[in-house]
Amino acid sequence: MQRQIMIQAVQLRRTLSLGAQAIEVLRGVSFEVARGEMVALTGPSGSGKSTLLALLAAIDSPTSGQLILDGSDITHASEGSLARVRNEKIGIVFQSFNLIPTLTALENVEVPLHISTKPGDARRRAADILARVGLADRMHHRPHQLSGGQQQRVAIARALVMSPSVLLADEPTGNLDTQTGQHILALISELRQDFGLTTVVVTHSPDVAACADRVLRLVDGQLMSSVAVKAVAR
Ligand SMILES: Nc1ncnc2c1ncn2[C@@H]1O[C@H](COP(=O)(O)OP(=O)(O)O)[C@@H](O)[C@H]1O
Ligand SMILES: [Mg+2]
Repeated sequence: MQRQIMIQAVQLRRTLSLGAQAIEVLRGVSFEVARGEMVALTGPSGSGKSTLLALLAAIDSPTSGQLILDGSDITHASEGSLARVRNEKIGIVFQSFNLIPTLTALENVEVPLHISTKPGDARRRAADILARVGLADRMHHRPHQLSGGQQQRVAIARALVMSPSVLLADEPTGNLDTQTGQHILALISELRQDFGLTTVVVTHSPDVAACADRVLRLVDGQLMSSVAVKAVAR
Protein backbone atom coordinates (compact mmCIF):
# COMPACT_ATOMS: atom_id res chain seq x y z
CA MET A 1 0.00 0.00 0.00
CA GLN A 2 1.21 3.47 -0.78
CA ARG A 3 2.42 5.47 2.20
CA GLN A 4 -0.05 8.26 2.72
CA ILE A 5 0.87 11.35 4.68
CA MET A 6 -1.75 12.22 7.29
CA ILE A 7 0.06 15.07 9.06
CA GLN A 8 2.56 17.33 7.35
CA ALA A 9 4.15 20.11 9.39
CA VAL A 10 6.33 22.56 7.48
CA GLN A 11 8.52 25.02 9.38
CA LEU A 12 5.94 25.59 12.10
CA ARG A 13 6.63 28.55 14.31
CA ARG A 14 4.61 29.74 17.29
CA THR A 15 5.43 32.97 19.03
CA LEU A 16 3.64 33.94 22.22
CA SER A 17 3.71 37.42 23.65
CA LEU A 18 4.28 37.65 27.37
CA GLY A 19 3.79 41.32 28.20
CA ALA A 20 6.22 43.25 26.01
CA GLN A 21 8.29 40.12 25.42
CA ALA A 22 7.82 37.72 22.55
CA ILE A 23 8.68 34.09 23.26
CA GLU A 24 9.45 31.80 20.36
CA VAL A 25 7.95 28.56 21.64
CA LEU A 26 8.24 26.63 18.36
CA ARG A 27 11.12 27.57 16.11
CA GLY A 28 10.63 25.96 12.71
CA VAL A 29 9.33 22.46 13.28
CA SER A 30 8.97 20.18 10.25
CA PHE A 31 7.91 16.53 10.17
CA GLU A 32 5.48 14.12 8.59
CA VAL A 33 3.31 11.40 10.09
CA ALA A 34 2.03 8.64 7.81
CA ARG A 35 -1.53 7.33 7.98
CA GLY A 36 -1.73 4.72 10.73
CA GLU A 37 1.65 5.59 12.15
CA MET A 38 2.20 6.08 15.90
CA VAL A 39 4.68 8.74 16.93
CA ALA A 40 5.86 9.49 20.46
CA LEU A 41 6.71 13.15 21.08
CA THR A 42 9.20 13.62 23.90
CA GLY A 43 11.33 16.43 25.27
CA PRO A 44 11.98 18.35 28.46
CA SER A 45 9.28 20.34 30.23
CA GLY A 46 8.75 23.67 28.50
CA SER A 47 10.19 22.46 25.18
CA GLY A 48 6.92 23.17 23.33
CA LYS A 49 5.26 19.72 23.18
CA SER A 50 1.81 20.89 24.28
CA THR A 51 2.04 23.92 22.04
CA LEU A 52 2.84 21.69 19.05
CA LEU A 53 0.01 19.30 19.91
CA ALA A 54 -2.44 22.21 20.10
CA LEU A 55 -1.44 23.16 16.53
CA LEU A 56 -1.93 19.56 15.32
CA ALA A 57 -5.30 19.53 17.11
CA ALA A 58 -6.41 22.72 15.29
CA ILE A 59 -6.97 24.31 18.71
CA ASP A 60 -4.29 26.93 17.99
CA SER A 61 -2.77 28.36 14.79
CA PRO A 62 0.91 28.73 13.93
CA THR A 63 2.53 32.16 13.73
CA SER A 64 4.08 30.98 10.47
CA GLY A 65 4.69 27.78 8.58
CA GLN A 66 2.23 25.35 7.13
CA LEU A 67 0.12 22.52 8.47
CA ILE A 68 -1.45 20.00 6.13
CA LEU A 69 -3.91 17.51 7.55
CA ASP A 70 -5.07 14.62 5.40
CA GLY A 71 -4.15 16.55 2.26
CA SER A 72 -5.90 19.79 3.28
CA ASP A 73 -3.92 22.88 4.20
CA ILE A 74 -5.51 24.05 7.46
CA THR A 75 -2.93 26.77 8.20
CA HIS A 76 -5.25 29.62 7.34
CA ALA A 77 -8.59 27.84 7.73
CA SER A 78 -11.47 29.79 9.23
CA GLU A 79 -12.53 29.10 12.82
CA GLY A 80 -15.64 27.43 11.43
CA SER A 81 -13.74 24.93 9.34
CA LEU A 82 -11.21 24.32 12.11
CA ALA A 83 -14.10 23.49 14.46
CA ARG A 84 -15.28 20.98 11.89
CA VAL A 85 -11.82 19.45 11.56
CA ARG A 86 -11.61 19.15 15.37
CA ASN A 87 -14.98 17.48 15.62
CA GLU A 88 -14.70 15.09 12.69
CA LYS A 89 -11.03 14.30 12.16
CA ILE A 90 -9.28 14.64 15.51
CA GLY A 91 -9.65 12.98 18.86
CA ILE A 92 -7.64 14.42 21.74
CA VAL A 93 -6.85 13.16 25.23
CA PHE A 94 -5.25 15.20 28.01
CA GLN A 95 -3.32 14.45 31.18
CA SER A 96 -6.17 15.80 33.31
CA PHE A 97 -8.99 13.85 31.57
CA ASN A 98 -11.13 17.03 31.23
CA LEU A 99 -14.45 15.27 31.77
CA ILE A 100 -17.58 17.24 32.64
CA PRO A 101 -18.11 16.44 36.35
CA THR A 102 -21.93 16.69 36.31
CA LEU A 103 -22.36 14.25 33.41
CA THR A 104 -22.20 10.45 33.53
CA ALA A 105 -19.57 8.55 31.54
CA LEU A 106 -22.14 7.89 28.82
CA GLU A 107 -23.23 11.54 28.67
CA ASN A 108 -19.60 12.71 28.53
CA VAL A 109 -18.93 10.44 25.56
CA GLU A 110 -22.10 11.66 23.81
CA VAL A 111 -21.00 15.31 23.89
CA PRO A 112 -19.11 15.32 20.54
CA LEU A 113 -22.01 13.52 18.87
CA HIS A 114 -24.36 16.36 19.78
CA ILE A 115 -22.04 18.95 18.20
CA SER A 116 -21.76 16.93 15.05
CA THR A 117 -23.92 16.99 11.97
CA LYS A 118 -23.37 13.27 11.40
CA PRO A 119 -26.59 11.34 11.92
CA GLY A 120 -26.76 8.28 14.10
CA ASP A 121 -27.90 7.03 17.43
CA ALA A 122 -25.70 8.97 19.86
CA ARG A 123 -26.55 6.82 22.87
CA ARG A 124 -25.80 3.56 21.09
CA ARG A 125 -22.52 4.80 19.62
CA ALA A 126 -21.38 6.16 22.97
CA ALA A 127 -22.29 2.88 24.70
CA ASP A 128 -20.46 0.83 22.05
CA ILE A 129 -17.21 2.72 22.39
CA LEU A 130 -17.41 2.72 26.21
CA ALA A 131 -17.77 -1.05 26.08
CA ARG A 132 -14.75 -1.17 23.76
CA VAL A 133 -12.58 0.64 26.33
CA GLY A 134 -13.73 -1.76 29.05
CA LEU A 135 -16.36 0.36 30.81
CA ALA A 136 -19.59 -1.46 29.95
CA ASP A 137 -20.47 -1.60 33.64
CA ARG A 138 -19.53 2.01 34.47
CA MET A 139 -21.59 3.96 31.92
CA HIS A 140 -23.86 5.66 34.42
CA HIS A 141 -21.12 6.66 36.84
CA ARG A 142 -20.00 10.27 37.15
CA PRO A 143 -16.27 11.08 36.93
CA HIS A 144 -15.80 11.37 40.74
CA GLN A 145 -17.15 7.81 41.08
CA LEU A 146 -14.43 6.49 38.75
CA SER A 147 -10.72 5.85 39.27
CA GLY A 148 -8.16 7.89 37.35
CA GLY A 149 -7.60 5.06 34.88
CA GLN A 150 -11.35 4.70 34.32
CA GLN A 151 -11.71 8.46 33.81
CA GLN A 152 -8.96 8.34 31.20
CA ARG A 153 -10.80 5.47 29.47
CA VAL A 154 -13.92 7.65 29.33
CA ALA A 155 -11.82 10.46 27.85
CA ILE A 156 -10.40 8.05 25.25
CA ALA A 157 -13.91 6.86 24.39
CA ARG A 158 -15.02 10.48 23.98
CA ALA A 159 -12.00 11.18 21.76
CA LEU A 160 -12.87 8.23 19.50
CA VAL A 161 -16.67 8.34 19.38
CA MET A 162 -16.70 10.43 16.18
CA SER A 163 -14.38 7.91 14.45
CA PRO A 164 -11.54 10.41 13.90
CA SER A 165 -8.57 9.54 11.73
CA VAL A 166 -6.10 11.17 14.13
CA LEU A 167 -5.67 10.55 17.86
CA LEU A 168 -3.59 13.03 19.84
CA ALA A 169 -2.69 12.50 23.48
CA ASP A 170 -0.87 15.00 25.73
CA GLU A 171 0.83 13.04 28.54
CA PRO A 172 -2.18 10.70 28.89
CA THR A 173 -0.54 8.77 31.74
CA GLY A 174 0.85 11.80 33.57
CA ASN A 175 -1.76 11.62 36.36
CA LEU A 176 -1.78 7.84 36.69
CA ASP A 177 0.29 5.36 38.64
CA THR A 178 2.79 3.33 36.61
CA GLN A 179 0.68 0.21 36.22
CA THR A 180 -2.52 2.04 35.32
CA GLY A 181 -0.50 4.14 32.92
CA GLN A 182 0.78 1.00 31.21
CA HIS A 183 -2.80 -0.27 30.80
CA ILE A 184 -3.85 3.03 29.24
CA LEU A 185 -0.91 2.94 26.82
CA ALA A 186 -1.70 -0.65 25.88
CA LEU A 187 -5.30 0.41 25.21
CA ILE A 188 -4.22 3.36 23.05
CA SER A 189 -1.86 1.11 21.13
CA GLU A 190 -4.59 -1.52 20.61
CA LEU A 191 -7.19 1.04 19.51
CA ARG A 192 -4.86 2.64 17.02
CA GLN A 193 -4.26 -0.80 15.44
CA ASP A 194 -7.97 -1.66 15.38
CA PHE A 195 -9.09 1.70 14.00
CA GLY A 196 -6.01 2.46 11.88
CA LEU A 197 -5.53 5.70 13.81
CA THR A 198 -2.69 8.07 13.09
CA THR A 199 -1.45 8.71 16.61
CA VAL A 200 0.78 11.29 18.29
CA VAL A 201 1.42 10.78 22.00
CA VAL A 202 3.32 13.30 24.10
CA THR A 203 5.11 11.43 26.83
CA HIS A 204 8.04 11.07 29.16
CA SER A 205 7.38 7.37 29.48
CA PRO A 206 9.72 4.83 27.90
CA ASP A 207 6.68 2.52 27.60
CA VAL A 208 5.06 4.78 25.00
CA ALA A 209 8.25 5.10 23.08
CA ALA A 210 8.33 1.29 22.98
CA CYS A 211 4.90 0.96 21.33
CA ALA A 212 5.52 3.85 18.91
CA ASP A 213 6.91 3.52 15.40
CA ARG A 214 9.03 6.61 15.83
CA VAL A 215 10.16 9.03 18.52
CA LEU A 216 10.34 12.77 17.88
CA ARG A 217 12.31 14.80 20.39
CA LEU A 218 11.65 18.48 20.92
CA VAL A 219 14.24 20.67 22.66
CA ASP A 220 13.76 24.44 23.00
CA GLY A 221 11.11 24.47 20.28
CA GLN A 222 13.14 22.53 17.74
CA LEU A 223 13.12 18.88 16.70
CA MET A 224 16.34 17.16 17.61
CA SER A 225 15.96 13.80 16.02
CA SER A 226 13.51 11.36 14.57
CA VAL A 227 14.32 7.86 15.73
CA ALA A 228 12.76 4.83 14.09
CA VAL A 229 12.09 2.34 16.85
CA LYS A 230 10.82 -0.42 14.62
CA ALA A 231 13.13 -1.45 11.84
CA VAL A 232 10.50 -3.53 10.07
CA ALA A 233 7.91 -1.58 8.08
CA ARG A 234 4.36 -2.21 9.25
N1 LIG B 1 -0.17 30.84 27.27
C1 LIG B 1 1.14 30.98 27.44
N2 LIG B 1 1.67 32.20 27.72
C2 LIG B 1 2.99 32.34 27.87
N3 LIG B 1 3.89 31.36 27.74
C3 LIG B 1 3.42 30.15 27.46
C4 LIG B 1 2.03 29.87 27.29
N4 LIG B 1 1.89 28.57 27.00
C5 LIG B 1 3.12 28.05 26.99
N5 LIG B 1 4.05 28.99 27.25
C6 LIG B 1 5.50 28.79 27.29
O1 LIG B 1 5.87 28.10 26.13
C7 LIG B 1 6.87 27.14 26.38
C8 LIG B 1 6.42 25.76 25.92
O2 LIG B 1 5.29 25.35 26.66
P1 LIG B 1 4.60 23.94 26.42
O3 LIG B 1 4.24 23.80 25.00
O4 LIG B 1 3.50 23.84 27.41
O5 LIG B 1 5.79 22.94 26.78
P2 LIG B 1 5.75 21.39 27.18
O6 LIG B 1 4.38 20.86 26.87
O7 LIG B 1 6.83 20.76 26.36
O8 LIG B 1 6.07 21.34 28.63
C9 LIG B 1 7.14 27.22 27.87
O9 LIG B 1 8.28 27.99 28.05
C10 LIG B 1 5.93 27.90 28.44
O10 LIG B 1 6.26 28.62 29.59
MG1 LIG C 1 2.99 19.95 28.09
